[in-house]
Amino acid sequence: MPQISNKGKLMPASPIRKLTPFAEGAKQQGKKVYHLNIGQPDIETPEVMLNAIKNIDFKVWAYTQSEGTLSYRKKLVEYYNRANYNVTVDDILVTTGASEAITIAMQTCLDSDDEVIIPEPFYANYNAFAWMSSVKIKPVLSHIENGFALPPISEFEKLITTKTRAIFICNPNNPTGYLYSYEEMVELKNLCLKYDLYLFADEAYREFCYDGSKFYSPMHLDGLDEHVIVFDSVSKRYSACGARLGCFITKNRKVIETALKFAQARLSPGMVAQLAGEAAVDTPQSYFDNVNKEYTERRNMLVSSLNKMEGVYCPNPGGAFYVVAKFPVDDCEAFCQWMLEEFDYDNQTVMMAPAAGFYSSEDAGRDEIRLAYVLNKEDLANAMICLEKALKEYPGRKTVGSLQIGVES
Ligand SMILES: Cc1ncc(COP(=O)(O)O)c(C=O)c1O
Repeated sequence: MPQISNKGKLMPASPIRKLTPFAEGAKQQGKKVYHLNIGQPDIETPEVMLNAIKNIDFKVWAYTQSEGTLSYRKKLVEYYNRANYNVTVDDILVTTGASEAITIAMQTCLDSDDEVIIPEPFYANYNAFAWMSSVKIKPVLSHIENGFALPPISEFEKLITTKTRAIFICNPNNPTGYLYSYEEMVELKNLCLKYDLYLFADEAYREFCYDGSKFYSPMHLDGLDEHVIVFDSVSKRYSACGARLGCFITKNRKVIETALKFAQARLSPGMVAQLAGEAAVDTPQSYFDNVNKEYTERRNMLVSSLNKMEGVYCPNPGGAFYVVAKFPVDDCEAFCQWMLEEFDYDNQTVMMAPAAGFYSSEDAGRDEIRLAYVLNKEDLANAMICLEKALKEYPGRKTVGSLQIGVES
């Protein structure tokens, strides 16, 4: 039999989908499974976006320009300049999701074995994107005790070598929900300027900031034009994960010219998705207001339910739609699997993502779980009842006391 490449053999599997066979097994036994493991929102896609692709009239389903259609990029300029990014159509490359934007950036800016520093826990697929690009991730540990705030800059500096090319943040963060402050952004800016590093910013959750807190992008900072690359996506903003549409934004001309060569090799982003994306820019503000209100209520409910469970600690995140919580068990992966394989309450159970897969440091996050609040409040409430019962029954539970860090609502 022809062989599989070493790259393929060592390609990391997604920790978010890893337990899927156990969830399927639970469903086959007739159990209802609440999916808090994956960032697939139940929120409806904006009507303007869906209407744009109903009954569209074309005779040839053609390629578009590799950088994306001019009309979509013009609309994106309108969207970003409302947020004071001060960009032009030449600063934007349309991609097949943020995922492609990230792989293009890694291939454009880093050579094999070059290093990128990322605060961890981080979106697990960064491991896969880095692996595909032969890039090394150097993690900087952030801590649940301070809600996963940006680690001290001295911790980043300790990791900088002659191979370091970039700092990579996700803001608001998946999986922690942490929203970076203006001061933290300025600290990152100074670091990138001092060592001449790229600042990669994944802003897939830009629209999801709660409690009136303000979102800051490195695009808002002076003097960083040559350093910043923003990755964005319509997946979460418009609850349109299946559109597979994102973009890559930078004012660095050399970077965008080089990125375009990678974009040309994959020919073009999808034409229909771009038509939908173009219309989506006109989504009324009321859509975002409603979504924001809904997610805030869900977050409040999830965080307070978790913190009421004995031995569980969950910080109150400022954005995105995830939390990372600490559980009174030795190994959260075993606990998540047990919930699917062995447990049910009234024929219901919960699927969650063990947080260890969002860390690249060995053994980090083994007692943490990521939960996505992508279900309606009734389902979320039922899922929390199930989880509380499961924790009481779980044979691998640790004795409580030392774990309790403090309670935020
Ligand atoms: C932080 C982050 N970046 C990127 C992506 C991928 O986005 P896309 O669907 O646009 O490829 C996701 C998807 O969950 C994400 O959470």
